[in-house]
Amino acid sequence: MVRNIVILMMFSFLCVVFRQYAAESSEMNLNLIPEPFQVSAGKGHFTLNEKTILSNHAGRAAEPILNRFQQYLEQYYSLSVDNRSEDESAPGRGVIEWILDPDDPSTGDEGYRLEAGRRKIRITAASEAGLFYGTMTLRQLIPVKKSRVLNIPFVTIADKPRFKWRGMHLDVCRHFFPVEFIKKYLDILAMHKMNVFHWHLTEDQGWRIEIRQYPKLTEIGAWRVDREHQHWNRRTPPEPGEKATYGGFYTQDEVREIVQYAAERYITVVPEIEMPGHAMAALAAYPELSCTGGPFHVMPGSYWPINDIYCAGKESTFAFLENVLSEVAELFPGPFVHIGGDEAGKANWKQCPDCQARIRDEGLHDERELQSYFIRRIEKFLASKHKKLIGWDEILEGGLAPEATVMSWRGMEGGTEASRAGHDAVICPTANCYLDYYQSEDTENEPVAIGGYLPLDSVYAFEPIPPGLETDKQHHILGAQGNVWTEYIPNGNHVEYMALPRLCAIAEVVWSAPEKRDSDGFKNRLKTHYKYLDLLDINYRNHVTGKPAKPTPRTYYTE
Ligand code: ACM
Ligand code: ZN
Repeated sequence: MVRNIVILMMFSFLCVVFRQYAAESSEMNLNLIPEPFQVSAGKGHFTLNEKTILSNHAGRAAEPILNRFQQYLEQYYSLSVDNRSEDESAPGRGVIEWILDPDDPSTGDEGYRLEAGRRKIRITAASEAGLFYGTMTLRQLIPVKKSRVLNIPFVTIADKPRFKWRGMHLDVCRHFFPVEFIKKYLDILAMHKMNVFHWHLTEDQGWRIEIRQYPKLTEIGAWRVDREHQHWNRRTPPEPGEKATYGGFYTQDEVREIVQYAAERYITVVPEIEMPGHAMAALAAYPELSCTGGPFHVMPGSYWPINDIYCAGKESTFAFLENVLSEVAELFPGPFVHIGGDEAGKANWKQCPDCQARIRDEGLHDERELQSYFIRRIEKFLASKHKKLIGWDEILEGGLAPEATVMSWRGMEGGTEASRAGHDAVICPTANCYLDYYQSEDTENEPVAIGGYLPLDSVYAFEPIPPGLETDKQHHILGAQGNVWTEYIPNGNHVEYMALPRLCAIAEVVWSAPEKRDSDGFKNRLKTHYKYLDLLDINYRNHVTGKPAKPTPRTYYTE
C-alpha cells in the first residue's frame, strides 16, 4: 500500500515536471512563417509596453521602417511608443534598436539578426532590406492580444532567404482590383518576406495600364460589356450598340504610387505586357495591329483558341509595342519586363500575307520561329532600355532569345531546359503554384473556381529546383512564385481567400532552408499565424475548419 502511494506521488511529481517542461518548450515555439534559418530561444521575455523606445542606429534610410513599425503598434495594439534617433540612455526602459552593419556578410544581402533580451531587442543587418525583414519577424513575435503589455520571448535569430525571387502574381485583367487592394496585396507579400510582385496588366478581357501615346488602350480596352451573371465560359458577346461598362484601369500616377508603395516594402514590381497573344483588348482599340484588321471587342469571358493576336509581319506592330514598352520601362524601375508569350494561336499567322512575307524574308522555318523572331526583336528593344525580358515558357519554342529569363508554368521542364542553356528561370508549375485552383475536393462547398485541385500540402511540398538539374546549373533558378488568375475571382476578399494560406506555404518554400521543411510543424504554426491574419483583417481559408475567416460569397452564375 505504502509502496503504491510512493509510486503515485512520484508519478504526480513527474507529471508536474513534464508539464513545466512542456510549457517552456511551447514558449520556444515562435510560430514564425516563413521559418527562419537559425533560431535559438532562451527563458524569459522582453516586455513591450508604452515605455519602450524605438532607436534608430541605421541612418535616415531606416527611418521609414521605424516609423511604420511605430504606426503598426499604434494601429493594431493601440500602443504609443517613443521613436528616437540614436538615443538609448533611458534607465528602466526597454529599447528596440536597428543597426546597419554593411561589413557583416553573415546573413547576406537580405538577411538579418534579431536578438531579444530582457532590456533590449536588436535587429542588425547588412542592408535596409534585411532590417525590414527583421522588423517583419519582430511583428510576428508580438503576441496577438488586446493588451498594452506584450511579452516577446528571449531569442536569437539569424535569418536569410534561400531564393532571390520570392514572388506572387496577380491577374488584374480578368477582374479589376482597385489601388487600395493592390496595396493590401503588397502588404501581404511583405509580411511573408516576398519580394516580387508580378503584375499581369494586359489581356483579352482588359487593358489595365494608361499609356499616354495610345489613349484608346484604356478608353476602349479597359472596358467590356457586363456579363458577370454568366459563367465565364458561357458569356455572350456584346449586343449591337451595347455600352461596355465593366472594368477599370490604373493611371500612370497610380502606377507610380503602387511602385513606390512596393519599393518601401522591398518589393520589385514586374509588369506584364502580353504579346503576341492575349491581346484582344489592345486589338479592340487598335484593330490594325492584327493580321485581319478586325473588328474586335474586349472579351467579357473566355474564348478559345486565341488566333487574333498581334501581326508579326507588320512593322506598325513593333512600332506600337516599342512605344508602349518605352512608357512601361519608365514607370517601372525594376530590371524585368514580362512580355507574356503564352498561348498564342498561330492560325492567323499561317494565312496572313504579311506574316508569311516576314517568314520568307527572315529565312524562318515556320510560325514557331516567327514567334521566336518576335520575342528576340522585343528583347533587343528592351535591352536598349536597360531592361531584361522574362516570358512564359512558350518563349522557348522556335529558339530562346539570347538573354531571356523563362517562367516555367507548364511543369518544371521549361526551367530545366532554360537553365541547361545558361538562362535564368523562375518556377511556377500549375501543379504547385496555381492558386486559382480549388483548395478542397469538396468543390460544392467552395467558391466556383477554374478547376484543378491544389491543396495546401501540395504547395508546401513544392521543390523549386527541378529534379535532375545539375548542381552547377541550379544557380539559374532564381526562385518561384504563386500565380493568381482571376477569371473566377471578382473581388479582393476572394483573392485573399484563394491566396491564403497557400501563399504562406510558397513563402516558406522560397525563403526557408529546405532542411527546415516540416509539413505538420507548418500547419501547427499556421494556427497562430491565422490570429495575425485576423488582426490585419486578411481573409483566408482555414485549413482546419475549411472555412474563410469572413464569409466569402460563393460565386453564383445565374446563366
Ligand atoms: C498561363 O497560365 N497561361 C501562363
Ligand atoms: Zn500577320
